[in-house]
Amino acid sequence: MKKIYIQTWGCQMNEYDSSLIANILKKKLNYTQTHHSEKADILILNTCSIREKAQEKLFHQLGRWKNLKKKNKNLIIAVGGCVSTQEKKNIYKRSSLVNIIFGPKTIHRLPKMIKEIQIKRKNIININSKKLKKYKFFKNNFKKKISSYISIMEGCNKFCSYCVVPRTRGREIHRNPQDILCEAKFLAKNGTKEIILLGQNVNSYIGTFENGLKCNLSKLIKLISNINNIKRIRFLTSNPMDFTNDLIGIYKNTPKLVNSLHLPVQSGSNQVLKKMRRKYSISEYKKIINKIKKFRPNIYITSDFIVGFPGETKKDFQKTLKLIKDIKFDISFSFIYSPRPGTSASRLKDEISLQEKKKRLYLLQREINNNIKYFSQKMIGTYQKVLVEKKIYINKKKKLFGKTENNRTVIFNGPKELIGKFSYVKISQAHMQTLRGKYKQII
Ligand code: 5AD
Ligand code: SF4
Repeated sequence: MKKIYIQTWGCQMNEYDSSLIANILKKKLNYTQTHHSEKADILILNTCSIREKAQEKLFHQLGRWKNLKKKNKNLIIAVGGCVSTQEKKNIYKRSSLVNIIFGPKTIHRLPKMIKEIQIKRKNIININSKKLKKYKFFKNNFKKKISSYISIMEGCNKFCSYCVVPRTRGREIHRNPQDILCEAKFLAKNGTKEIILLGQNVNSYIGTFENGLKCNLSKLIKLISNINNIKRIRFLTSNPMDFTNDLIGIYKNTPKLVNSLHLPVQSGSNQVLKKMRRKYSISEYKKIINKIKKFRPNIYITSDFIVGFPGETKKDFQKTLKLIKDIKFDISFSFIYSPRPGTSASRLKDEISLQEKKKRLYLLQREINNNIKYFSQKMIGTYQKVLVEKKIYINKKKKLFGKTENNRTVIFNGPKELIGKFSYVKISQAHMQTLRGKYKQII
């Protein structure tokens, strides 16, 4: 049986896409997945181009695979994801090892491309498609998961000045709600307890039912929360620009919606936000959080931050630090600004030194880490509802591994029957994002 090896970088959308790639190649060509690149007949790279460093990973990896290609002349290397749609045939210019370039929208055509290359041995590039046909393959080659992603829309119409996504993933395409519900029910039937709805602008989601009625994210969450076996719902990544009162409202009466929200603010300075074309002010951002907190006073808010955006002054940066204190952001992601090809910010003069950018990143992460520590410490002695995902070994001793609502890993002793179930764990120790505890009761 032929084997594929898939290397995935980037966001959760890419992870979801990679599982679809495995499903499609299993169904159409009967390829199985291997975790050893040297055993594979096809090597697939699902790439990310959000920052330059992420993009460069592709070429480093290709360099490492030179020998595999030398040993096996029939080895096929296929490159997909956002670097493909951004760089297109330039990838062939930088590396002669690549045979296929496909994009997030042409995953469903991979079997055809692979067959063609086996016959003709001529490089293929196929990255454009108006429709998203890949999603219908979610059932094939299904692997049981306690927590599962469902991609509900992809692409972006917002054009923040720094962001490459509208160019790599294209304009927004929204899946229809029936298909999403069908996928959620299928997952629930097969052991999934937690669903994470995905989209680059997940709260801009607006699908259409077969009868023509529209379905927004809050409606979709409501419908998914009606599925009995689904006990937890998350969504990623939201944009403050589209965080409507309607979406805020569902925090009131949807207990399955977790008490944690990822709402990237990017910067604490209105001036920087304007240059980033984020189209909201800090006071508007705070208003959203305050409204949600009316229903969920203890909700954990997480964010993404960019430091060193062109023109960001020391004062602007201080405003970001202040916002982190004010909102008390929990586990968050922060990056040094990376100019991306084709974006409007890439034409701005970048006068901040790398040393200063690194310093800002360090200070920001120190502030965030203080918050993480604060929240984790506060959890000591409390009973946490933990979704138990798997067993792991620590110092050769078997332990259970689960997640709290606020995305902390909990490691504890307990019977393996708890896997796939919720249980109460009394937290006894806190190390940043990992907690230790004692199992009390199955829920
Ligand atoms: N440079 C640095 N960080 C970026 N992000 C997006 N584009 C860039 C860029 N050009 C960050 C944002 C976004 C996250 C996914 O990546 O913070 O929310
Ligand atoms: Fe990276 Fe954005 Fe593409 Fe995801 S959508 S892989 S984050 S560039």
